[in-house]
Amino acid sequence: MCRFFFLFLSLSSLLFLLLHLTTTPIPAPPPTSLSDLRIRPGYSSYDAYIHRQLTKTLNPKLRTIWTTRDWTRKVNAFSRFFHDHLIMGLLSNGSKSLCIGARVGQEVAALRRIGVNDSVGIDLVPYPPLVLEGDFHHQPFDNGTFDFEFSNVFDHALYPSRFVGEIERTLRGGGVCVLHVAIALEIFESLNLVGILSMLETVTSHSIM
Ligand SMILES: *[C@@H]1O[C@H](CO)[C@@H](O)[C@H](O)[C@H]1NC(C)=O
Ligand SMILES: *[C@@H]1O[C@H](CO)[C@@H](O)[C@H](O)[C@H]1NC(C)=O
Ligand SMILES: *[C@@H]1O[C@H](CO)[C@@H](O)[C@H](O)[C@H]1NC(C)=O
Repeated sequence: MCRFFFLFLSLSSLLFLLLHLTTTPIPAPPPTSLSDLRIRPGYSSYDAYIHRQLTKTLNPKLRTIWTTRDWTRKVNAFSRFFHDHLIMGLLSNGSKSLCIGARVGQEVAALRRIGVNDSVGIDLVPYPPLVLEGDFHHQPFDNGTFDFEFSNVFDHALYPSRFVGEIERTLRGGGVCVLHVAIALEIFESLNLVGILSMLETVTSHSIM
């Protein structure tokens, strides 16, 4: 069954590449084991990656900013963003929804505010009740759990194909995934994103610039 992936890009230079990708079949077989997976540049190992992510996520100054000064502005922005998805029919108030890499859960709060009540986030560090503990390389959910998944941290994944594979696994048939990607061109190319995304059944991209 079809799963829909929508990419919202912050860099217009990437739009061409992704539009190209939707119309040209690319013969890249999906990786089969962890050792085959492309690792994100700049990290030597999974442990080093987790350590770096935890250090950032647990930074008390950043957490204070995320939950105070940033909170209202971010929740408002996410609410508008998701409201557009309601209008486009990609999301409904009954959608069981997951926000991946949600930190303190501003996007989860936004979904709940616009009436998508059955929404939760995951991150390495939990922030209850909005965000549960979970690594997006190994989502702590059964197959076919969600109707809608959102993430703006795809460009932070150590194993991008594992990240996408886990979304495919936990999204039900006919479910929708929206990835908001802001990524530099050279990283985009080095990640072999084209190969990874060719695993997906449907990819649509939009530029939000
Ligand atoms: C979501 O929760 C709000 C507040 O509790 C409630 O008014 C609304 O009916 C709920 N929406 C759905 C779709 O269940
Ligand atoms: C949920 O959405 C449906 C369809 O748009 C609408 O008819 C219904 O009133 C909504 N329910 C709530 C509780 O907002
Ligand atoms: C869940 O999905 C994965 C990947 O598609 C598959 O290998 C696995 O057998 C599935 N598990 C169950 C319990 O269906």
